[in-house]
Formats: sequence, structure tokens, C-alpha cells
Amino acid sequence: MARIQNAARNAMEWFEVVGERYAEHFEPEQFMYSMLTRSQRISHENLRLRDPVWLEGYERWFAERAGVQPGANGQVPPPMFTPYSIKDLTLHNRIVMSPMAMYSATDGLANDFHLVHLGSRAMGGAALIFPEMTCVSPDGRITPGCLGIWSDEQGAALKRLVDFVHTQTPAKIGIQLGHAGRKGSTKLAWEGIDQPVEEGGWDLISASALPYKAASHTPRAMTREDMDRVVADFVSATKRAVAAGFDMLELHAAHGYLLSSFLSPLTNKREDEYGGSAENRARYPLEVFRAVKAAWPETKPISVRLSAHDWYEGGNTPADAAVFAQMFKDAGADMIDCSSGQVVSEEKPVYGRLFQTPFSDKIRNEIDVPTIAVGAISEADHANSIIAAGRADLCAVARPHLADPAFVLHEAAKIGFEGQQWPKQYHSGRAQYVTNLQRAAAEAKR
Ligand SMILES: Cc1cc2nc3c(=O)[nH]c(=O)nc-3n(C[C@H](O)[C@H](O)[C@H](O)COP(=O)(O)O)c2cc1C
Repeated sequence: MARIQNAARNAMEWFEVVGERYAEHFEPEQFMYSMLTRSQRISHENLRLRDPVWLEGYERWFAERAGVQPGANGQVPPPMFTPYSIKDLTLHNRIVMSPMAMYSATDGLANDFHLVHLGSRAMGGAALIFPEMTCVSPDGRITPGCLGIWSDEQGAALKRLVDFVHTQTPAKIGIQLGHAGRKGSTKLAWEGIDQPVEEGGWDLISASALPYKAASHTPRAMTREDMDRVVADFVSATKRAVAAGFDMLELHAAHGYLLSSFLSPLTNKREDEYGGSAENRARYPLEVFRAVKAAWPETKPISVRLSAHDWYEGGNTPADAAVFAQMFKDAGADMIDCSSGQVVSEEKPVYGRLFQTPFSDKIRNEIDVPTIAVGAISEADHANSIIAAGRADLCAVARPHLADPAFVLHEAAKIGFEGQQWPKQYHSGRAQYVTNLQRAAAEAKR
């Protein structure tokens, strides 16, 4: 029932906004694809079943727009395997490994775990790899195991990861900078997620003095002095990220962490110029963004991750997120990474396949800013449908990358796309993997 209602809601919204969101911006070919897939129930591969000739023509049209010609075997890359360029960054496909906290650093230092974890995902086909939120100060950590970038030693440890990705893989690597705010000083996930540490904790800061959960430590509402310190920490972190050679920077302004706590009316009860209207709530996050941007090379892209829905009455909705996206775009953000929730612990999210993609669609096509879609995008068919319909420019994939470091290589093989490069050391694994897939398909037909 929920599925049918979701499909109906998506389709209804498409018709409500068709003029300003799609008809005015999309070329006729993409407009048609968008209309056919408007409910998010009909996918790329469904369309292939219905009309393979039309879909192949569309794939060719899309690939030409992305500047690619068919491969030597005549194969046209499907939308998720087309390259994407933004500023001086060119990605060889549209899949990003989304940032995921691994709780495995000591004193914020990246170690061999991070090298192997991120290095293997970069070898596994994602075009852009993000390590977990990297914290700008010791009190900006979620847990004692989070990565940091407040010292030169940490910067050098991160450079080792960057150098591996650049020299051994075709991937690029971004850094997500953040401060945990009131959600800091908690235990490692496997010891009790969101539970305050018992020993060695730190004082918390946030937009307002409200704890995340009843059992959480209560943060102090930030003073102007705190704000200046945190801006300076973000700027130092950015300079270290530049020195480490990261290709892209993302400012984490989602999930109830420090900057997000300013944006949401549920966590920001301030009565000064940093609280109240959307413009006031965005004032401090924008100040941080501008300071970071000034320290980041003009030639490299910078994105902002937003919670596009608080999933709670009185909280931000996708309409509010679009207002914030516009503000960050005006301040020079190159992309908006459209996540949602985790702002208040009482939230009531509605999960499901591609559940956050409509937020990306809205922001990309109403605000006219490139976006990253994320959330329950777990197979090639999902990513192809999103990219082909212009609902996002990139798809970030998180948990499937935990289950399978070679997620992208495997998805390429499953849809028979030969143009995705495997590491030269692994070529014989590819041939066997493809043979096994073909065998399984033949068995299933019997
Ligand atoms: C273990 C874990 C840690 C995460 N840590 C971060 C993080 O550091 N920064 C962030 O923006 N999102 C974080 N996320 C959210 C993911 O980036 C992603 O938005 C979310 O998992 C939805 O994508 P998925 O359905 O592909 O998993 C984390 C998710 C998981 C599962």
C-alpha cells in the first residue's frame, strides 16, 4: 500500500510542477524520459523491456550529451557510466561512495584501516570516494573514533589516502568537513550509537542548549566567541585539505550536526540574528561556508550536504531545503548533496527505495544547481533511472559499499557493461565473474 501511495504522490507532484521544473529546462528527449518514470515505479530496465529500441536511442542521446561515443564493441555507456565534469574535476562515472563514519581512528588520525577501507572502494569502481565526516576540532567529533583534520599530522595521514587513490586508481577523492555539535561526545557505534561516552567526553556546543536525546549531554548555545573559533577551525581544516590534495570539498550541514542545528527550527530557538527566519538560521552556516570557500581553490568544486526534510512536525521540509539550497548556491556552492533527517531523535522518516531522490529532483530542477542524490540507491537500475531522468547529476551510495567494496564493478558486470575499467591486477576475476553471472542467468531460465 505504501508503495502505491508513494508512486501516486511522486506522479502527482510531477504534474503539479511540470511547467517550471521540467518543461522549461529539459530537452524533449529527457522530458519524455522524466514523464515516463515520474512515479519512480517505472525504471530504466522496465523501459528497456517495454521498448528496447527507444531506450537504446535515449542512451545514445544521453551519452552524446555527456561527450562520449560508443566503445570499440559499439556499446553505449548507460547513463550512470557516463563521465561528469564540474569545474576542473572529471569523474569517470556518476557513482560516489557516500561518507560513512567508521569509528576507527585514534586521536583523529587516519590509519591502515582507512587506507585499506577507502583504497579498496576506490579500486572497486566508484568515481568519487568520500571518507567519513572529518572533524575540524577535537570537540567536533561524534565519537572518540572519528577522523580529524585539526593537526598537520592528521593532514599528512589523510594525504597518504589521497596519494593512494590518485596513483593506484582512476577515482577521485573528496573530503567532508564537519563539526558534530550537540551530537558529539558519544560512544563508538558498536558500543551504543548516540549514547554519551562515560569517560573522556567533551563539552558540547550547538545553536541552542537542547540535548539530542533525554540521556544526551546538554550543549551550550554558541556564543559569538565560539562562532569565531569554529570558523577559524573550518578554515584551518580547509587549508590542510588543500595541502593533502583532495579533489572536492563537502561542507556537512545535515543530520543535526553543528551547522544543521542552526538551519532547523526544531534545534534553533535563538532569539538573536542567528535564529528565527530561514535567513537568520542560515546566517552562521553561510558564514562558515564563505570562509571555507575563500580558503578552497576556485578550480575545485565544493558541495553542501543538507537535510532536505526533518521528518517532524514544525521542522524543515523540502520547500525550506530549496530555500537554503538557493542561499548556498548564491554563496558559491557548486553542488547540493540531498540527504534528510537525523536532526531530531523523535523524527518519523518514511524510508523506501530512492526515498530522498525527490528532494534532489526538486532542488536540482527548481534551483538549477547540480545535485547528488543519496539514500536507498542500491543497484545500477536505480542509478541509471535517476541520472537519465535528470533527478540528480551524481548518485551517492553508502551501505551497499560496506557490503561490497567492488559494488560498481559488479553492477557494471550485471548489466553487461564492458566499459567500466577493472584494476589491471583483477582482470581474470572479471572474466570469471561474468561467466558465473551468465551461468546463473541460464539456470534461472530453465
Ligand atoms: C555507518 C554509516 C556512517 C555514516 N556516516 C556518515 C557521515 O560521516 N557523513 C554523512 O554525511 N553521512 C553519513 N552516513 C549517511 C550516508 O552517507 C548515507 O547518506 C546514508 O547511509 C543513505 O545512503 P545508503 O542508503 O546508500 O546507505 C552514514 C551512514 C552509515 C550507514
